[in-house]
Amino acid sequence: MSLIVNGTEIPATGTIKFNGVSLEKVIFDGVIVWSKEAIMSRKGFLCGNWKMNKTWDESIALAQEILATGVNTTNPETVLAPATCNLKAVADTVGTNLGVCSQFVSNATNGAYTGQVSAAMLANVGCKYAIINHSETTYFGLTPEAVTGNEQASFYNNFNIIAGQLGQCFQNNITPILCCGENLTIREKWAHKTWVEYQLRMSLASITADQVEKMIIAYEPIWAIGTGKTATPAEAEEMCSHVRTVISEMYGSSAGDQVRIIYGGSMNAKNASELLSQTNIDGGLIGGASLKPADFATIWNAFSK
Ligand code: 13P
Repeated sequence: MSLIVNGTEIPATGTIKFNGVSLEKVIFDGVIVWSKEAIMSRKGFLCGNWKMNKTWDESIALAQEILATGVNTTNPETVLAPATCNLKAVADTVGTNLGVCSQFVSNATNGAYTGQVSAAMLANVGCKYAIINHSETTYFGLTPEAVTGNEQASFYNNFNIIAGQLGQCFQNNITPILCCGENLTIREKWAHKTWVEYQLRMSLASITADQVEKMIIAYEPIWAIGTGKTATPAEAEEMCSHVRTVISEMYGSSAGDQVRIIYGGSMNAKNASELLSQTNIDGGLIGGASLKPADFATIWNAFSK
């Protein structure tokens, strides 16, 4: 395998920086994995995933505090993901200044699905984004495999549900944020690239190139979520670049160039700048740090650096 830049072969390891280096295109194994035009056209994306934190009143207060820092959705595109019952409160508070994102969406249209929420319901309260296949949803979801913590079996039995969730989002003009990522066991076996590729190929089987270009894909290594253990910038970049290569192979280089790929897993005010400066990392899915307005603002500001 060779890595070719402007016709010159370069080593396949190391970070390719955009700033200060006039690279036009990076072709890896015949696929364009990076181009100057593409990186300039991809808008940054930031999502604050509040998880199961904050009541209705607290959600309004937190949204107001975040707005007061100057954070807005102009650039990067920025969205808040409160608990389902607080989506309307946050949507009314932020208006058009920030986007609102659900932490979950059903694969079904409507009906006898206790505890679920449909894409149409989300759209109706002003929610325009939804997180799909977050590992915390997968683990603690309803399947027997998830209960025993076997997320591989859980994923294998549920990728058709993910396909349905993506379909529901597209039918209701909701931008899906599709999570992928490996646990520690998989990483220690050096199977993380294979696993993430498998997740993507199974999840996206019914998705078209036009649709994939509109999606956000979040690489979230499970071992880095809420643990304070962050993937190094090189590890995160390697995997986000891998995701882009897989998308390019599945849908062609244009879709690979367009799709936004973000990193999630203990991203914080201190490490955001370096993570976000990586060529293939277009943004962040932030948990703990999104509950602290000043830290979230620092991460938001890191996009302009
Ligand atoms: P933390 O930033 O708390 O690690 O959470 C990451 C995450 O799961 C975002 O969806």
